This record gives sequence, C-alpha cells and structure tokens, in this order.
Amino acid sequence: MGSHGTPEKMTAQSAGPLTGVAEVPGDKSISHRALILGALCVGETRISGLLEGQDVLDTARAMAAFGAGVTRHGPGDWSVDGVGVGGFAEPEDVIDCGNSGTGVRLIMGAMATCPISATFTGDASLRSRPMGRVTDPLALFGARAVGRAGGRLPMTIVGAEDPVPVDYATPVASAQVKSAVLLAGLNAPGRTVVTERVATRDHTERMLRGFGAEVAVEEVASGHRITLTGRPELKPQVIAVPRDPSSAAFPVCAALIVPGSDVLVPNIGLNPTRAGLFTTLQEMGADLSFENEREEGGEPVADLRARFSPDMKGIAVPPERAASMIDEYPILSVVAAFAEGATVMAGVHELRVKESDRIDAMATGLRACGVTVDETEDSFTVHGQGAGGVPGGAICAARLDHRIAMSFLICGMAAKRPVSVDDAGPIATSFPIFVPLMTGLGAVLTRDNG
Ligand code: S3P
Repeated sequence: MGSHGTPEKMTAQSAGPLTGVAEVPGDKSISHRALILGALCVGETRISGLLEGQDVLDTARAMAAFGAGVTRHGPGDWSVDGVGVGGFAEPEDVIDCGNSGTGVRLIMGAMATCPISATFTGDASLRSRPMGRVTDPLALFGARAVGRAGGRLPMTIVGAEDPVPVDYATPVASAQVKSAVLLAGLNAPGRTVVTERVATRDHTERMLRGFGAEVAVEEVASGHRITLTGRPELKPQVIAVPRDPSSAAFPVCAALIVPGSDVLVPNIGLNPTRAGLFTTLQEMGADLSFENEREEGGEPVADLRARFSPDMKGIAVPPERAASMIDEYPILSVVAAFAEGATVMAGVHELRVKESDRIDAMATGLRACGVTVDETEDSFTVHGQGAGGVPGGAICAARLDHRIAMSFLICGMAAKRPVSVDDAGPIATSFPIFVPLMTGLGAVLTRDNG
C-alpha cells in the first residue's frame, strides 16, 4: 500500500541497457540488530548507513517505546542511547512492527527476559505469520505468550521475572529464531546455547561479540552450536552498516537479463551466510565479478559488477544452500525464466511463511507471464525460456511482499511485453529508493494509478 493506504500499481517495460553505479541501501538484518543491540547497552551507539526502510523505522520506534533514546541526525545517520541488558521499560502502547518478521521476532526475544509485558501487532501479512517458532523457546526462559490461534499476532509477551538460561536446538533453519533466543539469553544468568542444523545468517553472533559479549561458535555432530554467556555488560559501538546483498540482488539480476547491461554495485556485504545467490548465478553462467574485496566492521565487503549474460543455463540449486539465499529465491526464479532449461529450487519450505507464500506468489505470477512452473510443498522448478524469451504481459499480485513486487518489475524490464504489479507500496519496507535507483540505470517504470 502507499502511504495513504491505496495500492500503487506499477508497470515495468523493456527499454535500453541498464548501465551505471547502483548504490543500494544499508543491510536490513544488520540495521535491525544495530538498533536493538544499541538499545541494550548503556551509552550512545552511533550508526551510519542505517536502512531507512519502513521495517527498520518500525524497529527504531519500538526501541524508543522500550525506553531507549533514538535520534536521527541525518540520512542513515542515527544514534541510540541504550538502557542496558535487562533495562527495557514497559511500553505504554501496542508495539506495531508493520510488515517486519525480523523486527517483531528479535524484539520479542530481547524483551522476553525482562520483567515487563508488551503487546505486538503488525500489518495483515505479519499478522498471518507464525510466532510459535519464537514463543516456544522463549517459554523455556520463563516468558509467557498469549496470542491468536496458531500463534498469530496480536500477541502479548509477559517477560520472565526470574529467567533461566536455555539450551535449544532450532527445529527450523531460521536466523530470526536463533537471534531471538540469543537476545533473550543476554538477560539470563549462565550460558544460553542454540544449536542449528544448518548455519543461518550470523550477524547477531558477530555483532554481539562486537558489543563485548562472550559468544563461542563450534561445529558439533548435530550442527552449528552457539554459546552465549549471559548478563554481559555491552559497550556502545560505532557501526557502519554495509549495503544489503538482498537489495543488491535486484539491480544485479536485472543487469544479467536486460540486453547490453553493465552495472556496478559497490560496497556490498558478502557475509558467506548471505551470499548463496551469487554462487548460484555464477553456476548458471552469469557474468559477475567481485572487485576490491575487503573487510569492513567485521563483515566481508566487495564491489559487484554484473553484465548481461545471454547464455545462462538452469541448474539444480543445492538445498543446503537455501539458508544463505533464502530471500533471493523470488528474484532467482525470474532469472531462471530467462535461462535455458530448468532451474530446480528444492528444500525451500520456509518460503511459504515469508511476507507472503513466495512459492505460490512467484509460480502464479510467472505462469501469468507465460512461464511454466512446477511446484511441490517445499520446492519449485522454473522452465527457462532463454534470453528474451519470456512473454510477460501480465498484472502480478505483490501480496504485501516487497521482494515479490520488485521481482516482477525486474521481470518486466526484460520480458517481451510489460509486466505490472498491483501494488508497489511494500517495496518501501526494504528498498525505499528502488524506483529512482532502477530508473537511474535506465529502467522504465510507470505508476498507473487512474
Ligand atoms: C532474517 C532472517 C531470515 C530472512 C529475513 C531476515 C534476519 O528469516 O528471511 O528477511 O534478519 O534474521 P528467517 O530467520 O525466518 O529465515
């Protein structure tokens, strides 16, 4: 929805090549964590490059509601005056996390071991998503949750008065669940342990260490084990947020499928727990290069160059790679439609509980664009039409999901006929400058609201 609640229909059509430099915004995962960890230490954390998408703005507002001083000094330049581990105050009103699963789940974790209550809600998408995956482990700390049927928002969490540490094996590969447990473990005495079968994005572990917590990571027979020593005194930090690889995916993939394109995306965070898409694209034959590889603020970073790649081939994406590219399957399925042969994406059941059911959203829209897609409960296969081979000419439903909206607009930039999305409003949750950035590269996007 647009800011006035009316859907913003938008259409993309093919034009000339996409060329130039794409400066994508700050990483969404790291931005949420910078605000939350800043609120959990005493003193001022300074953040530059913060993503000012609606999801992160909702988390900033929530941190203020829990008692932190949150100040915007300029574009992307923020400070958080924290209250310390265990120091959250009880919010006076409902915490509205908007569209953000990461925001609500991490904040629930951070407050669950404080002696306060808080009630959480969100938009229609977030209210349909399962919260039991976080409230189950939070109950082991001593927190209680009361929500709607199926563990849905609105939901009240009554924080543990006397929290105990927890040893938890995550049943789903989810960095949000892992992070909620670790953030709750901060205010529990002793050691909190989380074991995950497959390593998911590790920004929480890296940043907790940066803030001064003791975090040990080891490989064990059952997977990847993280041990946090509770009740640390976190020290305020200066954080430069790297640019978001999940946002970079859109101009990069657009360049691969629009004839003649050559786009440079500088300063992209390339944490290996996030970079699975780029490995996959290279296996498909994409012309991608990584320049100026370096480390910034504890995260690997590089400049990414993508050029039109007319000879990409479909592949079977290894299911064990899913966690490192979980948000990139929608845009990968678009690239797959412009490759030769089938791209099989298996082991991706989690896509069904994202901002929308992303398997169904992409399969439905791609079929409307003339692409053959097969799906099972936890996989989908896109039968590629080769470069320039996608008919397009459809209006696709965005389903309150930013990544679905952006994926179909990228599809329209390379399809034979224009592709529309019924509502481009959700793009503002993660990539508020998507439209000016893409049109700056040469894309043609039109708003057609009556
Ligand atoms: C995120 C984790 C992922 C991802 C989301 C951001 C995070 O969700 O899809 O966009 O910042 O921890 P899951 O942990 O549910 O897989």
